[in-house]
Order: sequence, then C-alpha cells, then structure tokens
Amino acid sequence: MSSKPIGIFDSGVGGTSIWKEIQNLLPNEDTIYLADSKNAPYGEKSQEEILRLSIKNTELLLERGCKIIVVACNTATTNAITNLRAQYSVPFIGIEPAIKPAALQSKSKTVGVLATKGTLASSLFNSTSENHANGIRIIEQEGTGLVPLIEGGKVASEETIGLLNTYVNPMLEEGMDHLVLGCTHYPYLIPTLKSILPAHVKIIDSGEAVARQVKVILEKNNLLNTSKDIARHQLYTNINPGVLQSFVEDVEGNLSVQRLDF
Ligand code: SIN
Repeated sequence: MSSKPIGIFDSGVGGTSIWKEIQNLLPNEDTIYLADSKNAPYGEKSQEEILRLSIKNTELLLERGCKIIVVACNTATTNAITNLRAQYSVPFIGIEPAIKPAALQSKSKTVGVLATKGTLASSLFNSTSENHANGIRIIEQEGTGLVPLIEGGKVASEETIGLLNTYVNPMLEEGMDHLVLGCTHYPYLIPTLKSILPAHVKIIDSGEAVARQVKVILEKNNLLNTSKDIARHQLYTNINPGVLQSFVEDVEGNLSVQRLDF
C-alpha cells in the first residue's frame, strides 16, 4: 500500500482526458498533474527537446513524491518513455495509439490514425503500427494545428471544424471505418468529430485502457492506496490557470488548479 500520489504530465490540458479516466477508476488515489502548456505543442519539437521537457516534468513529479508516472502525452511517450524508464526507477505508463483494437474491429480493414508529427515520426509508433497492421491498411494523418486550438479552448470553432474536415475526408474516401485518436488532446474533439463523421465510423481513444494499466501496475507493485481518505488532486500549469480550470470544471472532489513556473 502507498498513499503517495500518482504523477501525470502532458504538454498541456489534453492529458486531463487521461487524468479523468484514472480518477474515475481509482478514486482513492491522490494525483499531481502537470500541464506544460507553455511548451505546447510537443508534436512539432525535436526528439531531443521532447526528452528534455519530459525529464524536467518527471523530476518535478518525483520531487513531489510520486510513486508512478503517467506520461499522458502520445508524443512524449513515443519519443521519451524508453529513456525515462532507463533513467528512473519508478514505473512509467505511456499512451500509445489504440491501433490494436481498431485493427481487430475494422470491417473495411482500413483504419485512420490522427496524431502529431512527432508521434507519427517516432520509431515506437512505427513498430506498434507494423505489429498490428497485419492485413489492415493504416492511414496516418498529422493533426497539425489542432493542439493549439484545443489549448485555446476552441474545440468546436469554425477553424477546428475546417481542419478536421481537411484531415478526415481523405481517410473517409479511402474507406476508413475506425479513427484512432493518437493524441491525448483529441478526445476533447470527439463531439465535433461525431458531427462530421458518418455514423458507422468508430472513434477510438486510449483513456480507459491506460487507466486500467495504471491499476494493474500499482497492484503488481503493491502501490495501491487502500485508505478511505478523500483523494486530493493538485493540478499545475505554467500559464494562466483559467484554461486548465475550464477543462476540469466538470470534475467534483478535492482538487486545486494552480500556476507554477516549471
Ligand atoms: C502535442 O503536444 O503536440 C500533443 C500531445 C500528444 O501527442 O498527446
């Protein structure tokens, strides 16, 4: 048993989609969330820079006593998690695009993946994609420009709808019946995507699977918090906290959103 917090970081507010799943599944666990919005988007940065930022976030979470780190960012996972695991002794959970379930369920054998440039270029993404692509056509699409719009709270603006149409239409023309969201910011676009996509196209994200994996790893390492105290959630951002606050205002509980320079 460990009452230490779960540490979670992302390039910004998108990882709160993962934080919410973890908090739902593991309501006893304290959490510390870091939104590195000042440096978003990570997806346009070099691998070296993504690793440097991931180390900075990890160090801060470890200084605050976190027992496990969730890299709630596909770009940081695919570009940095191997190095983080080699450098630190705490367990790391990463987010990989859910290509496997999409590939298993696809009837048209055509799966679209919307992700950042950094994720699609990474060797971890490419090996995952090859492993599950047996007989399946994977159509990759960079979601350039989407993360800044989501960080700005513009999840259903005309600009966002225009970009999404540009990105999904070619995949639809190719016969896609499953769209994998390969960035933790993108679940906030699901209502907008649903209004654009035909009803038969299924949208897949990794949130629930990641939360289940966090639980498995905590159990395996005897790190679950079994106390009955109300969990405490500390969320930090390095820009105006109002933005992060607006992404978690639907969550009840003992949570604080604060600005921190990191
Ligand atoms: C980004 O910062 O570019 C997106 C984060 C992600 O890949 O989940």
